[in-house]
Amino acid sequence: MRKIMIAGNWKMNKTIAESIELVKGIKESGKVQVLVAPVFTALSAVCEARGDRKICVAAQNMHYEESGAFTGEISPLMVKDTGAKHVILGHSERRHIFKEDDALIKEKVLSAIAHGLKVILCIGEQLEEREAEKTNEVLDVQLTEGLKGITPDQMEDVIIAYEPVWAIGTGKVATPEQAQEAHAFCRRKIAELFGEDVAEKVRILYGGSLKPDNADGLLSQKDIDGGLIGGASLKADSFNAIIDAAERL
Ligand code: 13P
Repeated sequence: MRKIMIAGNWKMNKTIAESIELVKGIKESGKVQVLVAPVFTALSAVCEARGDRKICVAAQNMHYEESGAFTGEISPLMVKDTGAKHVILGHSERRHIFKEDDALIKEKVLSAIAHGLKVILCIGEQLEEREAEKTNEVLDVQLTEGLKGITPDQMEDVIIAYEPVWAIGTGKVATPEQAQEAHAFCRRKIAELFGEDVAEKVRILYGGSLKPDNADGLLSQKDIDGGLIGGASLKADSFNAIIDAAERL
């Protein structure tokens, strides 16, 4: 009943011309929701280049204010202006490299939803936290704090991405069992925060070294509703192969 989403986070890769070429090579799917997140400068061009194909477009980040003295930032109005309807928030690279904390991420989530954007909220533990058996604690805090002030109805516009930081860009993928366990925990936490109905409906994507050759095992898990893919989303062939895997489920 939850529609699978296969989302490509292109991170800081691809010029406008390269982004157009890549989106043109990505297949649309009737069964799976396909999404790409190019760099800000390529958002409008990618929205245009996808034409009427069913490919959603997301920004990779956003400031919570509509305008003002925030040099280098992009507002929700500006994201919407490009034609993008989704925004990724709280990515681990934003949290750890750019020191975004849960309080800031929460403001962004609230603002995105107030402006009619759909949010992909990323959460995930670092290696030391997993080794110290603190994974659930970290996910609990990131969900509770990042979604503070959101109503159960607004959760319709929220997708969660569980991305264990130790698996991002490392080739060290979580096993299907490890991922399923974390996803099940997140769903239980969402039930606690927003009720069972919301928890049953909310999509939880897995991210971290997801590739065509490990997609089947991960995507077939009960609480894994798709993937947020970095490296393997930068080539149409490998991204399409993951879409194919999701279509076979
Ligand atoms: P990789 O697929 O390159 O590990 O990146 C995952 C990610 O961070 C997606 O947001």
